Amino acid sequence: MSSKRTEIKELLQAEELDVKVVVKGWVRNCRGNNFVLFAAVNDGSSLQNIQIVFDTEKFSEADLKKITVGCSLSVEGTLKASEGKGQRVEVVADTFEVLGLCNPDEYPIQPKKHSLEFLRENAHLRFRTNLFGAIMRVRHNMIYAIHTFFTQKGFYNIHTPLITGSDCEGAGEMFQVTTLDLNDLPKTEDGAVDYSQDFFGKMTNLTVSGQLEVELACMALSKVYTFGPTFRAENSNTTRHLAEFWMIEPEIAFADINDDMDIAEEFLKYLIKYALDHCREDLEFLQDRLMQEEKSKPQNERSMPLIEKLEFVLANDFQRLTYTEAIEILKESKPNQKGQFKYKIEGYGADLQSEHERYLVEKHFKKPVILTGYPKEIKAFYMKQNPDGKTVAAMDILFPGIGEIIGGSEREADFDKLNKRIEELNIPMKDMWWYLDTRRFGAVPHSGFGLGFERLMLFVTGMSNIRDVIPFPRYPKSAEF
Ligand code: 4AD
Ligand code: MG
Repeated sequence: MSSKRTEIKELLQAEELDVKVVVKGWVRNCRGNNFVLFAAVNDGSSLQNIQIVFDTEKFSEADLKKITVGCSLSVEGTLKASEGKGQRVEVVADTFEVLGLCNPDEYPIQPKKHSLEFLRENAHLRFRTNLFGAIMRVRHNMIYAIHTFFTQKGFYNIHTPLITGSDCEGAGEMFQVTTLDLNDLPKTEDGAVDYSQDFFGKMTNLTVSGQLEVELACMALSKVYTFGPTFRAENSNTTRHLAEFWMIEPEIAFADINDDMDIAEEFLKYLIKYALDHCREDLEFLQDRLMQEEKSKPQNERSMPLIEKLEFVLANDFQRLTYTEAIEILKESKPNQKGQFKYKIEGYGADLQSEHERYLVEKHFKKPVILTGYPKEIKAFYMKQNPDGKTVAAMDILFPGIGEIIGGSEREADFDKLNKRIEELNIPMKDMWWYLDTRRFGAVPHSGFGLGFERLMLFVTGMSNIRDVIPFPRYPKSAEF
């Protein structure tokens, strides 16, 4: 049997019929009668399956019995116009081989709707559902679009380290990396763990962000970005947090906070447009799924259809306002007055929770919001201090259904101001010398931001749990697969 296969996506669009083809893939569904067996086969190239028709007279019963849901098949046959409804073309099998058997009594993925919880427990097999096929294809397209956007704009991709010797960012709890024997730790004279004997000769962790390192490259290459996994050991069991997630962090020299907001908004819109232009079939499938889910809700509580929502974001400018203005709106808001927020907003200085962010976006402005000018106390040490002495040039982008999708800022380029802030916050200087060097050797104004890739994926796919938009989610008490 020839091994050269044609991908199913291509077969489904083929103009030329009545030609010999080879199809390979996994059986998603099969049904039949005494005369004919139909198998729906998928190879991941498209959401759609191709129907394979087996004439029972042509094959032995024993061979046909091997064709079950989940098995892998190689079929040689003729591409024909389909007589049945539901598909334009089908393949009439001449010969076939079951490449891998699949016991239908043990195979968990059946041709029916499974709950997302069930699929999470079977994450090793969930790729074989229409839903996860669609999500993974969209995810790939978004990765490609991210690199395309920055390449077109003259940015360079910098790989920043995953193992780091400093916890300067303060963005979250870190996972420690060590080769020391935890049951027999070497100790110094004063009883502390002797990290000089550890692999790197000091204590190391997994990174929470590539920003500090990508800033170093920015001071020569001007426009750079890092796109890699980041790790946060926060014990937050929410639908928007992962312990291992991917982040895109551009860093731009000679750019201030307004340039930063402009490029972040352009970037998000580019990605959304890319999905609409290149992932139509998968988005339509995701949209239908959402509409099915929401059928039971009353009309006024249903969300906008997915594609309409994506188009709406493209068509409107993001609302830009200061943190101080946002606090006023939130203070006066009905849910705050009526005690409906879990965290009541008393006034300036409050750290915004996702309930507040979502109120601003979903109820008040009804579109994405960019907040700037946060109090310095609730933001990272490296953010540019505003002349008022109180706030920093931070910006967070808030999205409907998600809350914060991007966090960024202009950076403090002044050595003395940065140094003072590091001292105020008791950040160990020995870890920071290399970062401070950028402010000693040819510092320039610069800005950047971080986009949480899975938060973007939540928005684009309309999924509601972040564990369902990454192939293998990592969260508290779960590192299976
Ligand atoms: O706001 P964050 O903590 O910003 C930084 O890490 C900066 N160094 C970025 C920069 O300026 N270069 O994180 C950035 C984004 C958040 O807006 C959110 O989308 C996402 O990362 N994020 C998470 N996504 C999934 N799970 C988590 N635990 C996340 N924590 C942050
Ligand atoms: Mg943030």
